[in-house]
Amino acid sequence: MSRTVYVNGEYLPEEQATVSIFDRGFLFADGVYEVTSVIGGKLLDFDGHAARLERSLNELEMPNPISRDDLLAVHRELVSANGIEDGLVYLQITRGAADRDFAYPEDPTPTIVLFTQAKPGLADNPKAQTGMKVISIEDQRWGRRDIKTVQLLYPSMGKMMAKAAGADDAWMTEDGHVTEGTSNNAYIVKDGTIITRHLGTEILHGITRAAVLRFAKEAQMKVEERAFTLDEAKEADEAFITSASTFVMPVVEIDGTALGDGTPGPVARRLREIYLDESRKTAV
Ligand code: PDD
Repeated sequence: MSRTVYVNGEYLPEEQATVSIFDRGFLFADGVYEVTSVIGGKLLDFDGHAARLERSLNELEMPNPISRDDLLAVHRELVSANGIEDGLVYLQITRGAADRDFAYPEDPTPTIVLFTQAKPGLADNPKAQTGMKVISIEDQRWGRRDIKTVQLLYPSMGKMMAKAAGADDAWMTEDGHVTEGTSNNAYIVKDGTIITRHLGTEILHGITRAAVLRFAKEAQMKVEERAFTLDEAKEADEAFITSASTFVMPVVEIDGTALGDGTPGPVARRLREIYLDESRKTAV
């Protein structure tokens, strides 16, 4: 069935939506994106995603073509037009079309595209019951992973490596330390302490991460934001990931080593519950 999508100010059937072949998103991956989840027809953590979008655009000196309020209105219109109960809204802004040149064009007109993806039962993903298996791979991405750009080829390669190894995803490492998952932030739990890499240019500043750490602290759980090694991870009591599309998802195996008893741990299970409850309350 054809979706209604949004392109540069217009709502169109997906077949009629087009972007120039000269678009710098297409030629240079000169663009940024956000993924916001929808549960019960409402957007989770919208303000966090809007704020990070603004930051990504600023870091790339890219003009922002849309205000926060208009952006929310477009998100809501697409959710409603496409009857999304559970799913995602994908948003992408690129520097726009210009004759091919490495230097940024002077007065670019950004391209803005939004579309929805229906994911019935998004919050009831059966993986939450069994947990995920991950492999480790070298982190070979560029150095500004804090900017949410559309250059996702290495993460795609990582997912394919995981698939080939019979795993669900890959955790990336640099100098023996875990940076993050291919499309999620990575955590371990040791003796009741939640450990996740500190913010910096090495990882994406996850919106789910910020919310989950806040809820963990409010629930009196101990949190350490620091780099942890792959060896530490394999000896952890439990592990999990967070992202807008998976919320909090337990990890039960790393490179074939089972964590704890090989089933989702209590901290991950509790945080998933808290995150889903709390973020539903503030959903817009
Ligand atoms: N990915 N780290 C990376 C590399 C990511 O791509 C993502 C999100 C995250 C988690 O961020 P957040 O909690 O704000 O979703 C961390 C999205 C979901 C994607 O690319 O589909």
